[in-house]
Amino acid sequence: MGTVVDTPNKEANRSLTAEKKVAVVFVLGGPGSGKGTQCANIVQHYGFTHLSAGDLLRAEIKSGSENGTMIQNMIKEGKIVPSEVTIKLLQRAMQESENDKFLIDGFPRNEENRAAFESVTKIEPEFVLFFDCSEEEMERRLLSRNQGREDDNIETIRKRFKVYVESSMPVIEHYNAREKVRKIDAAKPVEEVFEAVKVVFAPFEKELQKATEVFFKLLPMDYEKDQLYHSLALTATMLVLFK
Ligand code: ADP
Ligand code: C5P
Ligand code: MG
Repeated sequence: MGTVVDTPNKEANRSLTAEKKVAVVFVLGGPGSGKGTQCANIVQHYGFTHLSAGDLLRAEIKSGSENGTMIQNMIKEGKIVPSEVTIKLLQRAMQESENDKFLIDGFPRNEENRAAFESVTKIEPEFVLFFDCSEEEMERRLLSRNQGREDDNIETIRKRFKVYVESSMPVIEHYNAREKVRKIDAAKPVEEVFEAVKVVFAPFEKELQKATEVFFKLLPMDYEKDQLYHSLALTATMLVLFK
C-alpha cells in the first residue's frame, strides 16, 4: 500500500489536503504482449482502475498540451518520455479516481521512471504482473492491432523492442530480485492468459475482500492493513469459510 496526496483544489491549503491509501499493481511486458487486453479483464473481475501510461500520454497529445509535440515525437521514435511528465499524469488520474486499487500499465518503463515514481509518490507496488512473450509473436500482434497508432509500424516496433530489452527489462529484474514479479506466459490465447492472471489476483477476489473487511471490523484494535495483517486476515477468513 502507498498513499496518494489528494488535492481536489490546487489552491487548497495543506490542512485541506487528504491522503488516500492506494494499492498499485504495475503491469509490464513488451509492446504487444497483451497488457491492455488483460487489464480490461482484471478491471471487470477485480474492480481495479486501469491506468495505461501510453494512453495517458496519447490523451495528453490530443488535449493540445504544451508537451504534446515533444510526447508525440518521443512516441514516434519509441523513446521513453521524461518521468516528470508521465508521473504527473498518473498522479492526476489517481487523485481524480474514487477507486483505491490501480493497475498501472506500461510503467515504470525504465530505471528513471521507477526511481522517480518511488521518490515522488512513496508508493510500493503490491506486485508486478509481467507478461512474457516472444518478439516474433509481439510483432505479429502489433502489426495487426489496427488502432491507427503511429508507432505500430515495423521501423518503430524494432526501436521499441530495443528500448524494452535495454531499459525496461532491468526494471523487471529489479522487482524480480525483490520477489515482486508474477510472471505469466503471455504467448497463449487471451482466455488462457487470463486463467493464469486469475491465480495471481485471487487475493483480490471481491467476496474474499468483503469477508476480510468483516474480519478487520471484528478485530479489537485499529490495525494498520499492511501486508502481514492482510495475510493473517486472509488466512483466518479462509479457515472460517472453508473449515
Ligand atoms: P499491449 O498493451 O501489451 O501493447 P495489447 O493488449 O494492445 O498489448 O495487445 C496487442 C494486440 O494483440 C491487440 O490487437 C490484441 O487484441 C492482441 N492480443 C492481446 N492478447 C493476445 C493473445 N493472448 N493472443 C493473441 N492476440 C492477443
Ligand atoms: O504502453 P504503450 O505501448 O501504449 O506505450 C507507447 C509509447 O508511449 C512508448 O513506446 C513510449 O514512447 C511512450 N511511453 C513512455 N513512458 C511510459 C509508457 C509509454 O514514454 N512509461
Ligand atoms: Mg497497451
